[in-house]
Amino acid sequence: MVGIGADGWAGLPEPARAELTACDVLFGSARQLDLVPLDLPKHPWPSPLLPALEELLSGHEGRRFGVLASGDPLLSGIGTTLVKRFGDVRIVPAVSSVTLARARLGWSAEETEVVSVVGRNVHRVTRALAPGARVLVLSSDASTPAAIAELLTQRGFGESKLTVLEQLGGAERRVDGVARTWSTNVDARIVDPLNVVAIDCSGIGLSTMPGLPDETFEHDGQLTKRDLRASALARLGPVPGQLLWDVGAGAGSVAIEWSRAHPRNRAIAVERDSERAARIGRNAERLGVPDLRVVTGAAPEALEGLPAPDAVFLGGGLSALDVCREALRPGGRLVAHAVTLESEQVLADAYRQHGGELVRLAVEHAAPLGRFTGWTPARTVTQWSYQK
Ligand SMILES: C[S@@+](CC[C@H](N)C(=O)[O-])C[C@H]1O[C@@H](n2cnc3c(N)ncnc32)[C@H](O)[C@@H]1O
Repeated sequence: MVGIGADGWAGLPEPARAELTACDVLFGSARQLDLVPLDLPKHPWPSPLLPALEELLSGHEGRRFGVLASGDPLLSGIGTTLVKRFGDVRIVPAVSSVTLARARLGWSAEETEVVSVVGRNVHRVTRALAPGARVLVLSSDASTPAAIAELLTQRGFGESKLTVLEQLGGAERRVDGVARTWSTNVDARIVDPLNVVAIDCSGIGLSTMPGLPDETFEHDGQLTKRDLRASALARLGPVPGQLLWDVGAGAGSVAIEWSRAHPRNRAIAVERDSERAARIGRNAERLGVPDLRVVTGAAPEALEGLPAPDAVFLGGGLSALDVCREALRPGGRLVAHAVTLESEQVLADAYRQHGGELVRLAVEHAAPLGRFTGWTPARTVTQWSYQK
């Protein structure tokens, strides 16, 4: 697998050319194959590529395949798919668009966060926004810069500087502007589809630590409140790359805070009420974790066939408690909240049978009491937490 830049064959070093010359057959996009002046059978990728991949590659057993990719094949590229499929792939990378973009801007690798929205929801960018942060976004197409400018403006980052870098390593063009005034100043029709967007962030960020204010979420009252949420997430213990089930997710706040804790975290929110399920999707998108999966349905039936979780939160009903505990992967954590005597009994039984930690959480908020201030207690919650 050979990475090729916008400068084509001329820009390829000798070892990369030698690899391609020794191949029996070449795969790549039609544009990339045109860049290679070799007389070999050439197979352009169809669109969509993934469903056709197996059939394309079969029938060539025992031959040396060459695959062309842009820049670094393992940066948001076909390389990742092929390594998963074949295991042993020799990769000769070229300079990536990210490296070229950083070179044009003078941004170091250490202080630059990279977000790919290639074929993905642009709201993924939100999670990376912080005052002074430098973010590079791999665009989907020509519409991405305007979509990012709008998103930044909505999230209070309208003063951020935006730079669009087109055709890096080829016929380069650079457009500078500010997010808030982007759409009035830049004609979206002339943006090149091959571009990277650099954001020099200016705005007030949102913590990635659990326990965001309740008003951060759109909700109908069915929300695990801030102090209880922080307590639950402390025990769920988000570890990078792990999967959480939020069962009876309400507004989705636990699944969202789990997902925000690390970009590789994954979560599935299960919610019976379709209106609430739609609200979870809106909250997830607004708070920068649009990949959160929402399953509309009642537990335990709706849990069938889901990938095994590393952590489970049960915020209300406990009918799925046993199923969830059994589904947990080894080392997995479960946290369940109860407010009724009946559900508290279920947790007391679970504690007796399986151990763990049983806690009662009573939170009181200071509020006006006539001319004075008094404590207003919230409903006391019983919390059972357990590690498998
Ligand atoms: C699927 S990713 C592939 C990235 C590639 N593997 C690399 O190393 O640059 C495609 C995205 O990378 C960015 N990109 C790739 N080549 C570029 C170039 N020459 N100029 C600007 N952006 C480029 C664009 O954002 C494009 O949508």
